[in-house]
Formats: sequence, C-alpha cells, structure tokens
Amino acid sequence: MGRAKINTKLKPSKKADLRTDEAAQVRIANRLSLLEQSSKGETRGAWSKSKTADLQVVKPVKTTRYSDIDLNNWKAYDHVKTDTLWEFPARLREGGHSNEYHGNYIPQIAQQLYERFTKKNDVVLDLFFGSGTSGIEAVNMGRRCIGVELKDELAESVSEKFTPKQLVTDVRIICADSASEEAKEKVQASLDIMREEKAQFLILHPPYDDIIKFSDKKEDLSNCDTTEEFYDLFEKVAKNGYDMLEKGRFAALIIGDSYKNSEAQPLGFECMARMMKLGFRLKGIIVKDIQGNERAKGKTANLWRYRALAGGFFIFKHEYVMVFEKK
Ligand SMILES: C[S@@+](CC[C@H](N)C(=O)[O-])C[C@H]1O[C@@H](n2cnc3c(N)ncnc32)[C@H](O)[C@@H]1O
Repeated sequence: MGRAKINTKLKPSKKADLRTDEAAQVRIANRLSLLEQSSKGETRGAWSKSKTADLQVVKPVKTTRYSDIDLNNWKAYDHVKTDTLWEFPARLREGGHSNEYHGNYIPQIAQQLYERFTKKNDVVLDLFFGSGTSGIEAVNMGRRCIGVELKDELAESVSEKFTPKQLVTDVRIICADSASEEAKEKVQASLDIMREEKAQFLILHPPYDDIIKFSDKKEDLSNCDTTEEFYDLFEKVAKNGYDMLEKGRFAALIIGDSYKNSEAQPLGFECMARMMKLGFRLKGIIVKDIQGNERAKGKTANLWRYRALAGGFFIFKHEYVMVFEKK
C-alpha cells in the first residue's frame, strides 16, 4: 500500500516567496546603482524618492490566526475556493490516496479546508476516520491528525498507510465509538503526546444514515433503527468534537441527504441544526457536486431517471460541506 507523501502541488506561498526574492534583488541592484551615482555626486533627489517607494512595496506576511494564507499575496491563491459551489473534475488518486473504501470523501475537500482553516503543524481531529483521507492529506500538507474509527480491522489496515514514525508524531489512529467518553479520553491522551491541549480543526464525515451500512455494531451511526436515532448519535459525536476543539477554530461537516419511505430526508440540514444548537457558529453551506466520486452509476443512470420520473423524486447530484466556527 502506498505511503502518504508530501504533495508538492500545494505550495503557493513558495511561488510568492520566489517572486518576492526576485523583486528584492532588483531593488538591491537599483539601490547599488543609485548609491554609485550618488557617490559620483549625481541624482540625490532620485535616491530619497526611490527609498520612500521601496518602503511602500515591501510588506510583511499577513495571515489570519487560523491559516497560513498570506493576505498580502492573496492573488496567488487562485486555487483556494471562496464560493459556495464546489466542482472537481475527478477524484485525486495521487499522494497516497486510493478509492478502495466505499464512502470515503475526495481528498480535494481536505486540501481546500486545511489550506483555509489550518496552519502548518496544526492538529486535525476526524471523528469518522474511515480509510484515513484526512490523515493522508494532513501528512501531505504538513499538518497532524487524530482519527477515530469504530471498526477495529479498518483502523488497523489504515495504520499501514503511514510509517511507524508518522504514527507516533503525526497521525494518531484510535479505535473507539466517537460518541463515547472513552473516545474523548483517548483523543486527550493523543493530544497530550502531541503537546496540544485541543485540536485546531474538526472534521465530521458521518455515515449518511443507513445509505451505506458500515458495520453491525450498535454504536455505528449507519446502523440506527430510525433516522431520529441517527441524529441523536450524531449530536453526541459532535458534542465530543466541540469539547475537544480549540475556541476560535473551525469545523467541517461533510454530508449528503437521503431518501426514505418516499420522502427526502434532509440529513445535512438537521445535522447542521444540531451543531448550531451545540454552540457552533455556521460560516458557510457549500454544495459539492458528487458526479466525480459516484461509483459505477453509469449503467443504471437511465433506470434511476425512469424511477425519478415515475416516482416524483430527484436524483442526488450533490452533498454538503458545511463550515462552522467554535465561538
Ligand atoms: C462516511 S465514512 C468516513 C469516510 C472517511 N472520511 C474517508 O474518507 O475514508 C463514516 C465512517 O464512520 C465510521 N463510524 C460509524 N459510526 C461510528 C462511531 N460511532 N464512532 C466512530 N466511527 C464511526 C464508519 O465505520 C465509517 O468508516
């Protein structure tokens, strides 16, 4: 299995640095030439004028308290999304990612969220770790990650994607029920090892109710008797996440809706409401196109279209990425 490697694609600030270096060299050359001229008794006025201009051009790096994006160079971040409609042509398969786990999210979501809402070395907490997409991308982007997953065999196999050293310092994988007190204690122990009091970013990518059944365990959110029970369990996990997240930092909920008993189930909006009830401040509702990460719907697409026309419902083409802040 491929190990996570550093993704060299996402280094806009490096580009910006190079540009700044070139500009600095040009300025130094200009100054030297002006000094030379001035020592020969020429252009005194030009030197002082240029000095004032230089002071205006050189700006220090300006970031927010939660990201490394240099706001003085904001035009260099074209790849960072700031609108509410996310479309990705295809799932990223390089950088240690594969699509072997049914129900994983596409790595581009983590890339977008990490760049906007985390700094280098920050700890991301993912309470539905699954196949570890959040952890792989954390390593690729110089962040750290704690992942909690209910299925022990999955937690074990995901560990193989990381080196023994990474599993100590960068990615901690915990097998537990994320709604439990035990999970909280284990996450706290990992935070202690990582010398952090709380996590700096929270990711919640729960099962979409029972659309995909992940296990037979009673604690599994995909195995609830009713959708109401799913919401209640989700709220417990979100509460644990809230408690373990640093104040003033961000959380993301990745979720799609479902259709049950001839009725659309607004899983996204109800889970969003539960998070707001816990004290999370809603910062954005992003609609993400899912056509790139659907599995083999091609052959059955026409059948679904027929069913939709006959049954008066709509075929899901999107999921949500909802962003919150802990006040
Ligand atoms: C939608 S998947 C997450 C996929 C993951 N984001 C990825 O990219 O691979 C949801 C995961 O939550 C796990 N899960 C369900 N109930 C859980 C619980 N109570 N505690 C921890 N994990 C749970 C499932 O086993 C499943 O792997």
